[in-house]
Amino acid sequence: MGVAGMKLHVKVGNIAEAQVDAIIVNLFEGVKNPGGATGAVDRQIGGLITGLIESGELKGELNETAVIHLTSGTPYRKVVVVGLGKSEEFNPERVRQVTATSVKVAAKGNVRSIATVVHGAGIGGLDAAAAAQSVAEGAILGRYSFDAFKSKSDERPDVELEILELDEGKIEIIEEAVERGTILAESTNWARDLTNMPANALSPTVLAERATEMAQETGLECSILDRADMERLGMGALLGVAQGSAQEPKMIVLRYRGSDDERPYGLVGKGICFDSGGISLKPGAGMAEMKTDMAGAAAVLGAMRAIALLKPAQHVIAVAPCVENMPSGTAQRPGDIVRTMTGKTIEIDNTDAEGRLILADAVAYAESLGAHTIIDVATLTGACVVALGTLYTGLMSNNDQLADQITAAGTLAGERYCRLPADPEYKEQYKSDVADIKNTGGRDAGVITGGLIISEFIEEARWAHLDIAGTSTTSKNKHYQSKGATGVTVRTLAELICRAK
Ligand code: BES
Ligand code: ZN
Ligand code: MN
Repeated sequence: MGVAGMKLHVKVGNIAEAQVDAIIVNLFEGVKNPGGATGAVDRQIGGLITGLIESGELKGELNETAVIHLTSGTPYRKVVVVGLGKSEEFNPERVRQVTATSVKVAAKGNVRSIATVVHGAGIGGLDAAAAAQSVAEGAILGRYSFDAFKSKSDERPDVELEILELDEGKIEIIEEAVERGTILAESTNWARDLTNMPANALSPTVLAERATEMAQETGLECSILDRADMERLGMGALLGVAQGSAQEPKMIVLRYRGSDDERPYGLVGKGICFDSGGISLKPGAGMAEMKTDMAGAAAVLGAMRAIALLKPAQHVIAVAPCVENMPSGTAQRPGDIVRTMTGKTIEIDNTDAEGRLILADAVAYAESLGAHTIIDVATLTGACVVALGTLYTGLMSNNDQLADQITAAGTLAGERYCRLPADPEYKEQYKSDVADIKNTGGRDAGVITGGLIISEFIEEARWAHLDIAGTSTTSKNKHYQSKGATGVTVRTLAELICRAK
């Protein structure tokens, strides 16, 4: 699956002398006489790059590429020039994009080894470490493909990527940053693989097994709650969703102990392995996409993988309730009333609003484990997609500082968050005549009432909610994204925890 395919090496050296099949250099928009590595390569190949610029064939626009093939006179046989866009707009996200774009172009046609410069180190406030981390992320994310189920998998050979730096004094910093970027990108790809898996191959039981294996490999503590545990704990909302399915529900609990702090951060992810809607059955068109309704669980597990390998001085737990939402003779009905772990009762208005039900018990469980901060990640509402489309993850929080920290971590990660209001007046929309609350709040502000219903089950912890319904998958192949799962929030959450005080 996706994580293989690219080996990264950091080396001191001049790219014009690299003994590889293809090299990658860059060009800022509007530059007529490139300097640095691009200038050196241009001189070596008789001004072919400046020729492309003069003829107007190469402008340096973001993610633009020009390919020059050579037959003699150079150690490499192919040069890829990638556009960096306007220098004043340059940032780590652009490094990720141009690296993915240029590596893909460079790797075409029997290329086994590629050398690249660290794009933009020292430009626009970007230091060598930030640039190198983004190069690693872009290369590994961009190389991802989900081909586990292709029987004629066009076996892509491993490609070696040399990341070259002239200044020996910077090598250690760059090596560390590349290692960091590799962990973050491979953890994102790990989450993408889980999310892309069809529901017949990834039941709650199998998902729990994958998490257990990952925990063993990375040294995380892992425990799995089964149905009997959930019954003992009184998780009636989670069990209500599970009761329509032939698959056993599982609650994955991971712990990373990087400090003696008694109380952990709690990351909670929605793990609906398939969301048919239940008795409030979804229409057929597009239902297959609901195999990705466990993207939140995959994201918090992927973030824990990264955290385990990056080893920040923090105490973190992840809780992922994993179930299937199916219609059957044993399924819960609209009108049913369930009792949650906290004792609060919920009237089921619509069985398709199942994410908030399993998360009600999951956030309560995380708080019972002592979490001082709870961040839930969920493909929660179609209303979020209507409001924000596929660019921004919806963010709600009861704490301004936490909301700002998540947004800032997202900027580092290249993931965008839009904070939504959470005023208590919205709560009137989900009052019930017969229970403490209903599981739906009507059409108006559906993204907000969905989030607020989850917050009803947190007593005093700081809380943030990330609605990834629009951002967890993409329908386009574009720079480091490929059709299907994006692994969104893995890098944001890992960066957040690594930067937490
Ligand atoms: N998993 C869906 C939300 C979803 C929709 C995710 C589209 C990704 C793409 C969720 O369980 C759901 O069905 N939500 C309902 C809630 C409604 C019944 C209150 C929705 O958004 O329609
Ligand atoms: Zn769902
Ligand atoms: Mn649903």
